[in-house]
Order: sequence, then C-alpha cells, then structure tokens
Amino acid sequence: MCSNVVEAPQSARQFAKVLQILASFGNEEAKLVPILQAVQEEYRYLPEEVMTFVATALGVPPARVYGVATFYGHFALEPKGKYVVRVCDGTACHVKGSQNLVETLRDILKLPEGKKTTPDMLFTLETVSCLGACGLAPAVVINEDVHGLMTPESTAALIEDIRREEGL
Ligand code: FES
Repeated sequence: MCSNVVEAPQSARQFAKVLQILASFGNEEAKLVPILQAVQEEYRYLPEEVMTFVATALGVPPARVYGVATFYGHFALEPKGKYVVRVCDGTACHVKGSQNLVETLRDILKLPEGKKTTPDMLFTLETVSCLGACGLAPAVVINEDVHGLMTPESTAALIEDIRREEGL
C-alpha cells in the first residue's frame, strides 16, 4: 500500500522525462532509434514500462518498440550497475590476455553464472570489440575511464579502489 504512495511520483517524473525526450524528436515514429538512445542515456537501460509508454505515445504497437530495442545490440533491456566495466576483447587485447581479465573480474565480482550485473547493482561486466586503444592492450574501460596494459592484478586493484571509495 505504502509502495504505491512512493512509486506514483517516481513514475510521474519518469514519464515526464520521456515526454520531454519524445517532444524533442517531434513525437515522430521515424525517430524511434534516437528516441530510445536518449531514453537509455537517461536511465542507463530501457525499462519495460517506459518502452510501453513510448509505444503508446507514438501510437505504435509495443512489439515494434521491443523489436527495435532487441535488434540493436547497444540497447540494454536490464538495469546496469553503477560501474560498467568493459573488457576489450578485440584481437589485440585478446592475444594479450583479455580473457584472463574477464575471468579475474567474474571471480572477484562473484558474478553468478550467466549474470553480468552484481546483485548489489554496483558492477556490470561486459566485453566489447576494439576500443580503438590497441597500443594499450589489453584495455579495460570503467564507465568513461580507459585503463591500459592491464594485468589480472591491476584489474583487481581497480575494483578494490572502487569498493574502498564506496565504503565497502
Ligand atoms: S583490440 Fe582492444 S583496444 Fe583495440
């Protein structure tokens, strides 16, 4: 009962932002991809209820919005952690041991099998293809910060630093 009282204003705010985004693209169905990109920038992923709202506002079936969201690999349908850790697995990084970094990270983040995000929503682990920093292979990006010439030890140290900053 109480949760409705708390959630209603949150939903109103959530949809107010979506309405602004839709208006900035002229409420045009043809702009669905940039609209979803802007929504994802706002929320870091595409919440299901927001996708349904976008579909209703544009007058298109929800299946069309979900279809676009699932077609493009850069759309996230699940919430991501506060820190998104991307390990480059392009050729240069792969030959310099990026898989060891992935294994180290899965281990120290204690990621359950098949999961990318820690249960406390602090970290999301992803692999990406070439980051354009091959001279720094193997490379890891945490949010916007690029870290090069990484080893399992230096990667673990980065996570340790973040945990310390977070008071963990
Ligand atoms: S292959 Fe990793 S930065 Fe290019």
